[in-house]
Amino acid sequence: MSLELKPRNTVRAKISAVGAYVPPRLLTNADLEKMVATNDQWITERTGIRQRHIVDKGVATSDLAAEAARDCLKKAGVAASDLDAIIVATVTPDMFFPATACLVQEKIGATGAWGFDLSAACSGFIYALQMGAKLIESGAHKKVLVIGADVMSSIIDYTDRATCILFGDGAGAVLLEPCAEGEVGLVDFVHEIDGSGASSLYMPGGGSLHPSTAETVANKEHYVHQEGGAVFKVAVRKMSELSETLLTRNGLTPADIDLFIPHQANQRIILSTAEKLGMPEEKIVINIGEYGNTTAATIPLAMHTALEQGRLKKDGLILLASFGGGYTIGTTLLRWEF
Ligand code: UT7
Repeated sequence: MSLELKPRNTVRAKISAVGAYVPPRLLTNADLEKMVATNDQWITERTGIRQRHIVDKGVATSDLAAEAARDCLKKAGVAASDLDAIIVATVTPDMFFPATACLVQEKIGATGAWGFDLSAACSGFIYALQMGAKLIESGAHKKVLVIGADVMSSIIDYTDRATCILFGDGAGAVLLEPCAEGEVGLVDFVHEIDGSGASSLYMPGGGSLHPSTAETVANKEHYVHQEGGAVFKVAVRKMSELSETLLTRNGLTPADIDLFIPHQANQRIILSTAEKLGMPEEKIVINIGEYGNTTAATIPLAMHTALEQGRLKKDGLILLASFGGGYTIGTTLLRWEF
């Protein structure tokens, strides 16, 4: 008996709505001056960050993710019950298990959706976007919600000036749907992981290697540890290299790109990456000043900012790039379809 081969699937995925949510409470550079030996001038000049949004006690990643999801679905005019799947990119899940996606599913009432969490640190959203797109492209699903959400304040040592000035809390969500006739949507991606960078940016405690004990708490193992200088250099090199590979293999140059939306870790990383790539400053979306580094949420939050500024327009060619703990690197090329 021979297998009946079906024709190659030609469904493409597009982003059809963007939602965002940040908690209202602000942690400004002036606030941090009172907590650690730092100052507004150092933080602004070395990172571009002026403030971050921080959750109140008891507010978790699933709460921010659910708010961003509701905002996204409202903008799309889609009922939560119509979702087929929910993917939550995060490194600060509410708990080890159940997956934050399950908690979001319950909170928003997405009664017909399955889902899962994806852990790729600051590249989490870009990786989840591709996973969601594949569910659409396979023909299996019509509506996939992709969320990037992190409560970084839950794993930050607010006595360590090298890390506590960088991170904020937030969530962003996009709805993925099949392209209509003539639409292009998500075009291509280049991803890479490099585990040799695992100990340059990580949280050592709480996992199976170092389960939580009084000792791991005393040793501050439940906080973000980072070799900032080393991460900085690799971030610039790898984001520009992978972006160039992606553009070249699609016959494009930075001149063809309408908007460059990079991960927001440090304004100097963003500008150095863009310079290496030959991407003019006016094409870059930068909102790190307002939010800091929100890990998996930076790119959908930046999309939200760009939409509010009227810079994301139908038919625009968009380049996304990310770099994060792992190391994880991601780049995506897409056409904006609304
Ligand atoms: O999203 C995931 C990926 N993460 C990143 O991409 C982060 C990458 N790294 C960075 O963004 C930067 O390396 C940092 C912002 C973390 C640090 O900036 P830097 O320009 O690399 O500074 P540095 O670590 O080389 O430190 C320079 C000086 C040091 O003092 P000395 O040794 O020269 O006397 C630090 O102790 O600045 C000092 N310093 C600070 N001073 C005031 C470090 N943090 C602070 C601070 N306030 N908050």
